[in-house]
Amino acid sequence: GKKGFSSSAVRNVVIKHVTIIGGGQMGAGIAQVAASTGHTVALVDTNEDILKKAVKGIEGSLKRVVKKKFADKPEAGEEFIQKVLQNVSTSTDAGSAAQGSDLVLEAIVENLKIKQDLFGLLDKAAPAHTLFASNTSSLPISDIASATKRLDKFGGLHFFNPVPVMKLVEVIGTPTTSQETFDSLLNFSKALGKTPVSCKDTPGFIVNRLLVPYLLEAVRLHERGHGSKEDIDIAMKLGAGYPMGPFELADYVGLDTIKFIIDGWSVMEPDNPLFGQSEYLNKLVAEGKLGKKTGEGFYGKK
Ligand code: 3HC
Repeated sequence: GKKGFSSSAVRNVVIKHVTIIGGGQMGAGIAQVAASTGHTVALVDTNEDILKKAVKGIEGSLKRVVKKKFADKPEAGEEFIQKVLQNVSTSTDAGSAAQGSDLVLEAIVENLKIKQDLFGLLDKAAPAHTLFASNTSSLPISDIASATKRLDKFGGLHFFNPVPVMKLVEVIGTPTTSQETFDSLLNFSKALGKTPVSCKDTPGFIVNRLLVPYLLEAVRLHERGHGSKEDIDIAMKLGAGYPMGPFELADYVGLDTIKFIIDGWSVMEPDNPLFGQSEYLNKLVAEGKLGKKTGEGFYGKK
């Protein structure tokens, strides 16, 4: 490896037991994929209701996966679902769940202070060898890591929605992430059946740095009166081969998420026109129209 290890493969921490903090769409999706690929997973959130909903969501998504993978063997499919679910345990106590974990992966609300408090607590509770990673889509990994004393064992693992379907994982190394940690996170991504790409700790990493300005530009194009939402979506699907048009995708990702990302970046780079505000997006978010999660966004209820 880069730092003079004779064999990084030998030095890698092999990740078998994972603690995932956050039972929302991303956390549950990551838990599902990890459990499906033979990892044991402790899924953590603040209350039992969220955890119950998360496990229900995992079961529902597994049924969709199995329908395809075990199309002609429904019994083997059911067996697979039960096996995967056995790999998932749930907890409302992050500190004790982190015990015995090779990796703690955080996918909670995009709030720096809350993430720092969580990792500060985890740093004291988790064994010394445990790696930490955040699935943040917009906050600097270094800022989150600064709440811990294991800067060398801290990186980013950024997944995409829907996690069971999207093949990419962005692996983010900060200036203090060790080569050993980075390699372990790369290998973990591969063990999940995903394709990792290496990213620097810069705003939006690769995908969101390109995707979010594109989504915002689609909104601005529409705001200028240069195309209907429907036509813009059709255009990008049929003219550029995207599976969803920008308005459909924005509703899918969540308008609050997009606004949160752009707000953060416009503070970091106020003069960057790519990070400018959209009045239309702001209005919808203010009205609580956040897309798929609330049933209404750029498009009305379906
Ligand atoms: N769990 C399991 N399987 C799922 C699933 C889920 N949650 N969602 C979809 N699938 C499966 C379906 O079962 C289906 O399988 P099949 O081909 O065997 O029938 C397959 O995926 C395709 O699904 P559908 O037929 O229902 O619908 P589509 O063909 O339109 O595909 C899609 C849905 C995969 C979501 C596709 O539209 C797509 O790729 N959209 C773009 C998604 C995208 O860009 N995501 C990234 C967002 S950015 C992000 O996440 C970063 C964050 O930081 C903001």
